[in-house]
Amino acid sequence: MDHIIVPELRKTSEIPYHADTAPGQRYVFIAKDVFPFTAFYVVGRKVIEVPHDQPKWLEPHRHNCPTYYILVGNRADLTGLQAQVSIEHLSLSVESPVAIFLPPYAFHSYRLIGGSGWSFHANTRPDYSESLVPEDAATKSFDGLQPDDVANAATPLPPGISSKGEADPTSRPSRPLQWRFIGPEVFSDPWVELDLWQFTPAQFCQYGTWRWAATNSDQISLLFSQHEDQLELLVCSDNNSHHVRSPVTFYHQKGLPYSYEYLKGSGFLMRIKRLEK
Ligand SMILES: [Fe+2]
Repeated sequence: MDHIIVPELRKTSEIPYHADTAPGQRYVFIAKDVFPFTAFYVVGRKVIEVPHDQPKWLEPHRHNCPTYYILVGNRADLTGLQAQVSIEHLSLSVESPVAIFLPPYAFHSYRLIGGSGWSFHANTRPDYSESLVPEDAATKSFDGLQPDDVANAATPLPPGISSKGEADPTSRPSRPLQWRFIGPEVFSDPWVELDLWQFTPAQFCQYGTWRWAATNSDQISLLFSQHEDQLELLVCSDNNSHHVRSPVTFYHQKGLPYSYEYLKGSGFLMRIKRLEK
């Protein structure tokens, strides 16, 4: 079975270390309490103009799995959202489009400091709180950690090239632009792959249907849009068709082929795929 989840707007303070002074609207795209069989926990925060005097809303903490911050700014080239990230001894100023890797057990926090767009938190376990570990639970030294180990400025893949850098005849210019944020070529032992497909108004008439084969691991697709736009797709899976519009989550369980057909609107499809160990 596949599952469609309409993200809920929830308070930031529902999870430990977080306060409701955070900016924007917080959507829970997938979590164990909305889909008990999920392999992921993903929250997206939509922010229009981070206030200049934005206070901190997050206390530093640790998880027992890789977790990520993913920034997607509201400009066409995905710039436009800035954050300050702290990971162990590193303090990084980052701008979208970027993925930040928080290694297991690394002490971390972040805050948005300017701009507009979406800020995602993707956790590679089903439940945020269950992945937390005590603050004194460091299991190794992070002294050698470098900015390049934890920050990846996302870039669009050229048409005709797969995410592995190989020639891909099925990747045509008429496809939505694909941005690679997370993968094994980007971060060490990332547990997941994360790509973003961008549907822009200038290319409305060029999209059609495309298929992803049966997966050997669980995947989720999140649809979201900037501004007031919506993105509408037809998702065919498990002999059923579903007309979905952003914001929405589609959970694809292992082994089921599925296809997507573009219907209308603009926005993004974020796919997170569990990597087999
Ligand atoms: Fe966290």
